[in-house]
Amino acid sequence: MAVGAEKIDPHRKAISQFALPFAAQRVHVLTQDVPEQFGSLFGKSATESALIVGDSKKVLAELPDQVFQTCVTSPPYWSLRNYNIPGQIGLEFALEDYVTSLLEVLEQVRRVLKDNGTLWLNIGDSYTSGGRTWRAPDKKNPVRAMDIRPPTPKGLKPKDLIGVPWRLAFALQSAGWFLRADLIWNKPNCQPESVKDRPTRSHEYVFLFSKSERYLYDGGAVRGPNNRNLRTVWNIHTRAYRHAHFATFPTGLVEPCLAVGSRSGDLVLDPFVGSGTTGLVALRMGRRFVGIELNPDYVDIAERRLNGAFVRG
Ligand SMILES: C[S@@+](CC[C@H](N)C(=O)[O-])C[C@H]1O[C@@H](n2cnc3c(N)ncnc32)[C@H](O)[C@@H]1O
Repeated sequence: MAVGAEKIDPHRKAISQFALPFAAQRVHVLTQDVPEQFGSLFGKSATESALIVGDSKKVLAELPDQVFQTCVTSPPYWSLRNYNIPGQIGLEFALEDYVTSLLEVLEQVRRVLKDNGTLWLNIGDSYTSGGRTWRAPDKKNPVRAMDIRPPTPKGLKPKDLIGVPWRLAFALQSAGWFLRADLIWNKPNCQPESVKDRPTRSHEYVFLFSKSERYLYDGGAVRGPNNRNLRTVWNIHTRAYRHAHFATFPTGLVEPCLAVGSRSGDLVLDPFVGSGTTGLVALRMGRRFVGIELNPDYVDIAERRLNGAFVRG
């Protein structure tokens, strides 16, 4: 157990308590180019879930106000991965431009959330490049090779920890979001690092934001140790999803967020779908799901995963 971390598995309860029998419902794949199709997802009697291929800012702009109960998402981290597709967020040369890109997407997320809705934002940090302009391929983790690395942001020095999560959190707070909690995702099986002058990073953040002062939060849905209130440090092993060649977050990270932040039948959003982990958990917990992803190859992966959600364990 990590020093100071609560020994809890916050999601173990979530699935067993909340999984509902479901009507096998195929997840539809729609595209940014045919926005007329989106309407069928938001009618009063709508029962469908969908993956939308497109740019999240553009697609969100086509969706109606106040339809989602919660959003659980992990945007691309700054300058860490190249998802090899034009229009991707994360490769902005300047840190401020990256924060602005995310603010714009998340402003749309705020609009499409119900007034009592929440945003669970998973984000990791990074270090300044210290003048290097590219990162060498890592045999264990090939997608981490970058052909460009941004210059050290103004005011920072080589080797500085950038503090990206908090910079983004403060920007969102200024934009009107209520910052309600900083959850530490502690990874007992974190990636080793070859550094000798600082500890190995073994955590990321999940920020809980709300749209309003009062919001849906069912604190009884997931309990912490000794049946007490959920704690802010969650120990969750990372698990590679074997079909995806990029960072996926574990289902165990998503389960408590959806358990306390939504109810059965609610509509859940992820504007950065990747391999579709939020959608998988949403469907298994009896929620509906709409996800957006720029890269059609990833949408294929997510579609297979979601449409097999109830077949595989
Ligand atoms: C960190 S990954 C998400 C991983 C996901 N949580 C999972 O478990 O697989 C971020 C995703 O955002 C996508 N992305 C990047 N820019 C985008 C944009 N402008 N619109 C939509 N998706 C984008 C990337 O292709 C990538 O799949």
